[in-house]
Amino acid sequence: MDVSFLQEAIRQRAMQGLFRTFAGPGKGIDFCSNDYLGLSQLQPEPQSLNPILGLGSGASRLISGNHALAEETEAWVAEHFGADSALWYGSGYLANLGLFSCLASRGDTYLYDEFIHASIRDGLRLSQAHAYSFRHNDLEALRQKASVARGRVFVVIESVYSMDGDTPPLEAIVKLCRDLGWYLIVDEAHSLGVFGNRGEGHTFSQGWDDVLLARVLTFGKAAGFHGAMVLGSPVLKEYLTQFSRPLIYTTASSRADFITLRFKLEKLLMAEEARLSLFRNVEQFIRGMTQTSLALMPSVSPIQSVLCDGNDAAVRLAELLSAEGFEVRAVRSPTVPKGTERIRIILHSFNTQEQVGALVSALSHHEALMKIS
Ligand SMILES: Cc1ncc(COP(=O)(O)O)c(C=O)c1O
Repeated sequence: MDVSFLQEAIRQRAMQGLFRTFAGPGKGIDFCSNDYLGLSQLQPEPQSLNPILGLGSGASRLISGNHALAEETEAWVAEHFGADSALWYGSGYLANLGLFSCLASRGDTYLYDEFIHASIRDGLRLSQAHAYSFRHNDLEALRQKASVARGRVFVVIESVYSMDGDTPPLEAIVKLCRDLGWYLIVDEAHSLGVFGNRGEGHTFSQGWDDVLLARVLTFGKAAGFHGAMVLGSPVLKEYLTQFSRPLIYTTASSRADFITLRFKLEKLLMAEEARLSLFRNVEQFIRGMTQTSLALMPSVSPIQSVLCDGNDAAVRLAELLSAEGFEVRAVRSPTVPKGTERIRIILHSFNTQEQVGALVSALSHHEALMKIS
């Protein structure tokens, strides 16, 4: 079989310096996973995952794969995370694809932040609605999009952006949506477990239900598991059950998944100490970096980005730091805009103060590869 066209595409990617590879946890100190609270290491007692429950579900939830545990877990999540209903998807990617591909119809408009996650972009692409981006976190730019918006308008943002780690002006966006009769959808992937009194996320219990049509909670980050739920009204859940293809045409998750999810989310809500330790590390890192001349993206979340001098410098720096025992990852353009190629550093509750201090010091030794503030 002639697969030279595949080889050629791979060669081109490598030539552009954009070759991707799988990577395991690595031997160094974890400054790259999204396991903010260290919950990925915890698992329920084996007896609670009784094999009699079965690990397979056999079919889509709309054929015969539905079971009481799925519905009970959704109801439990809705109750604890302040929504009237919740709907499970096998991953955050699927949740966004499933939500955005069907929510707005032909003639409607999505207005989305230019730095929105790829899973949302792909959902928008599958939808029949118009979609326009607005400048990152820029309320005025969003307001100006009123001139192109048609039909029902859906504003799409993240509460903590996955690359920059910053938060949009949430209250002002809610107010704008309220004033203009727009719907708001917030992806809480990097806020869950990290922000909110008990880690419920930025949008929890804010009294924004009149504009907040949906919130997406993903469980692969701070919850240390996988999967996601779309939170909203029972009508939204019913609508998605009718129209969301990644939900309808896929095999249901197993009972073991729901038992594990509930276990992890209970730990997440109780992880007060871990959240304190996480933010101590975030503060120490920012304080340490401001004493260097290196350019750090403004963020108060555990996602911190150190700007590098282009893709090659970012990759080189990640390699050097890895050789020195720090697991960090380069983020290249076009994943991030040209000129903002970076090392993305994720702080965790389980990183020690010594490790954070050592990382800052290691970074300052490679100044030549980074931008100066
Ligand atoms: C903002 C955001 N939304 C959705 C996703 C996708 O979630 P998952 O990894 O569960 O597919 C990610 C993952 O990186 C993300 O950062």
